[in-house]
Amino acid sequence: MGVFDKFSLQFRKPEGKLGRFAGFLMKKIGSEKNEWTISLLDIKPDDNILEMGFGPGVGLDMVSKVVQGGKVVGIDYSEVMLEQARKNNKKSIQEGKVELKLADVNNLPDFDQSFDKVYAVNSIMFWDNPVQTLGAVRKYMKRDGILAITVQPFTKGATEDTAKELGEDYMETLEQAGYSDIKVELKSMKPVPAVCVIGVNK
Ligand SMILES: C[S@@+](CC[C@H](N)C(=O)[O-])C[C@H]1O[C@@H](n2cnc3c(N)ncnc32)[C@H](O)[C@@H]1O
Repeated sequence: MGVFDKFSLQFRKPEGKLGRFAGFLMKKIGSEKNEWTISLLDIKPDDNILEMGFGPGVGLDMVSKVVQGGKVVGIDYSEVMLEQARKNNKKSIQEGKVELKLADVNNLPDFDQSFDKVYAVNSIMFWDNPVQTLGAVRKYMKRDGILAITVQPFTKGATEDTAKELGEDYMETLEQAGYSDIKVELKSMKPVPAVCVIGVNK
């Protein structure tokens, strides 16, 4: 496998030195996607929030600035990302507001709270069985809880149409996982637009 392929894999499960560098890049370029996704969730100070596939923890840091009484929980299966997200959320973790779990979304851990909002940014494309995972997480969501799944395609030659097609695919995924009132949002972004598919746990 070439160096480029090895590096691409680091976005799926960052490991070692290359994984640390991938985390550094995610932190540098991931803000806009995370900010947009979080804005779509209309987070309230008392909300309990779950992020699946938190990477370097950019999104968790943004969410923890809005959440006051609620809890912010993240899961990711990469030890390297856990380490970086811990550093990037040190104060909120010490305050007990943010909790990070080393876990695979294919086999969800138990949670002590039920969530008002659940989200994932550029992670779902790496999951083995998104329908099963998104169905399983409903057990930990409140009734009328909201799920937001954001993807910005980074495959070679991806265009706005690629993003729109992904949006349609993930709308179907959410429907199969049992969500209602599903809608899709598109955001113009460089180098390719991002899509966010939103559903409600009725
Ligand atoms: C491209 S990164 C995005 C990170 C972060 N959401 C962001 O926007 O900066 C994908 C993340 O999803 C995580 N991930 C992928 N598959 C996973 C799985 N099955 N279980 C837990 N985490 C997973 C990876 O470890 C990685 O941190």
